Amino acid sequence: MSRITYVNGQYVPHSHASVHIEDRGYQFADGVYEVFAVHDGKLIGEQGHLDRLAHSLGALQIDWPMAQRPFMVVVKEVVRRNHVKFGLVYIQVTRGVARRDHPFPANPISAMVITARKMAPLDKAVLNKGVKVITIPDIRWKRRDIKSIALLPNCLGKQQAREAGAFEAWQYDEDGTITEGTSSNAWIVTKDGELVTRQVGPTILNGITRLAVLEAAREAGLTIAERPFTIEEALEAKEAFVTSSTSHVKAVTQIDDKTVGNGHVGEITSKLLDLYVTYIEEKGGPIVTDRWN
Ligand SMILES: Cc1ncc(COP(=O)(O)O)c(C=O)c1O
Repeated sequence: MSRITYVNGQYVPHSHASVHIEDRGYQFADGVYEVFAVHDGKLIGEQGHLDRLAHSLGALQIDWPMAQRPFMVVVKEVVRRNHVKFGLVYIQVTRGVARRDHPFPANPISAMVITARKMAPLDKAVLNKGVKVITIPDIRWKRRDIKSIALLPNCLGKQQAREAGAFEAWQYDEDGTITEGTSSNAWIVTKDGELVTRQVGPTILNGITRLAVLEAAREAGLTIAERPFTIEEALEAKEAFVTSSTSHVKAVTQIDDKTVGNGHVGEITSKLLDLYVTYIEEKGGPIVTDRWN
C-alpha cells in the first residue's frame, strides 16, 4: 500500500510529494518540526507536542499553518491514511515560499508537510539491550529549546556515532557538561541512586518523553535532580539511558570506551521503561508544562 503525505492542503502519494524550491525551509532551514510517536494507534503526548510546536513557532515568529484543532485533525488523518498502528508522524512547518532573501518576507504563508511511517512496536527486550554512546562537543546554536529543522550538527554527530559503532552521540558544552544526544535526552543514575537529567533551558530540547519519564519517576518516588552533569560524572554513573519519542527509554551500557556500571542494563533504567510504558498507555503522555525554555 502506498504512503500518503500531506503537503500544503493536499493528501498526495508520498512518491509525488514535493515543495517549491524557494520554500524557506529548503533554502534557510527557516522552519520547525515535531515528531509524535504513534503507540497502538494513538498519538503519545499530543498536548505536549502541540505546546512545544507553539513554542517553536512563536520563538521564530512563524504563523501556525492553521488553527490547532484542524491541525490535529490533519495529523490524525495522515496517521489513518497510512494505517500506522505503531510508528511516527513527522510535521514540518516553514515560513513558506518567497524570493530568496534573508529577512522575513512580507505576508508569509506558512508551509506544512506531514508524513507518517510505520515502525516496529515498542519492544522492551530490544530497549533493554544496552547501547553505546560517544561524547562529542556540542557545536549547535544557542536556542536548542526550539525544535528547528536546522539539524546539520545533529546529523554530523549522529554520523560520527555510527562510524564509532555507537547508537548516539552525547554532546557536551564548553564547561564539559553533557547537554543531550543528537536526537534524544541524556540521563544518568549516580552511584547514590539519584536520577539526573539536565534542566530545561535554551541548552536542550525539552523532550516529551523526558517529561513523561520525569513524571513517572516522581510518582514512583525516585530521587530526581534536574541539573547539568559532567562527562566525568557520566563515566562514573551506575546507569545511563536516553529518551526520545522513537527510542522511548533506551539503556546505555557504554560511554566512549568506558562500561557503564556492570555493563548490564540498570535496575532503575529497566524500571523506568516499565513505568514509562504504563504511563503512556494509561495517561497518553505527560501532563503539559509551559516550560519549554
Ligand atoms: C535534540 C533532541 N533532544 C531531545 C529529543 C527528544 O525529544 P522527544 O522526547 O520529544 O522525542 C529529540 C527528539 O527528536 C531531539 O532531537
